[in-house]
Amino acid sequence: MEYSRSIQMYISQLVEETVREVLGNQSNSGETSGRQKLIVANWKMNMSLQTITSFVEKLTLAHVRSDVVICPSFPYLFPLSELIQKFNCDVELGAQDLHWNESGAYTGEVSAKMLLEADCHYVLIGHSERRDSGETDEMISKKVKQAISSGLKPILCVGESQGQRQIGKTAEVIRKQVLLALEGIEDISSLVIAYEPVWAIGTGLSATPEQAQSVHQLIRKTIDVQYGSISESIPLLYGGSVKPENASGLSAMTDIDGALVGGASLDAESFAAIIRGFERG
Ligand code: PGA
Repeated sequence: MEYSRSIQMYISQLVEETVREVLGNQSNSGETSGRQKLIVANWKMNMSLQTITSFVEKLTLAHVRSDVVICPSFPYLFPLSELIQKFNCDVELGAQDLHWNESGAYTGEVSAKMLLEADCHYVLIGHSERRDSGETDEMISKKVKQAISSGLKPILCVGESQGQRQIGKTAEVIRKQVLLALEGIEDISSLVIAYEPVWAIGTGLSATPEQAQSVHQLIRKTIDVQYGSISESIPLLYGGSVKPENASGLSAMTDIDGALVGGASLDAESFAAIIRGFERG
């Protein structure tokens, strides 16, 4: 697919407009959005058969009320699905990636159909760790399309680097990532977006609730300009060093509807504490 110059110019214009609007209209917390909280665990390349068993057992006992999704490595999707059923644990499964083609000679890749057969309902797309290993906006867009058309809910990850934030490019980077990922997509009713500033991932350095809220507001506005009022129902998650201590502060922000949790999701107790923090916020 080719990204034409006119699309790039259109995007730059929209970026400028939205930045102006958002800066002149910062809202913080307080209002209830009516959106259900969604907390997603991104286990990355961690855990083992043994640790996933005790994790599910403990999380079941925690009796959390939010919508919870766990994204393990591919080999654990089937055993995790069995454990979830065995313990009657109220969580859904997500994958950490998918390929945009339906099948074929793509060694090491996984298709949407395979993920559906493994009971997945969600799939992470465009995580910065994958962008780092060469995933482009074009590939991300094809993955989002494939997920939506197959019936998987894409969790599209976007986020700026430390350098981009320092030179004031956060809004521009985020808007471009969102618009390019959604290019040509009409139905976004199953979309979830996770704002994950790269400088906050795995560093212990979380964005403040106000920093995160301002980018979430920008993302919602971006969606609103393109798609209209459906923007109000799109869950916007924050990710990047989410821990039990900062969960309720983040959750109190109007446009933060949940979290994408890496390191702190590997331990059932801290993950349950984060979920409870979001339920309180
Ligand atoms: P972190 O990772 O919570 O360890 O910062 C978040 C993520 O990469 O999704």
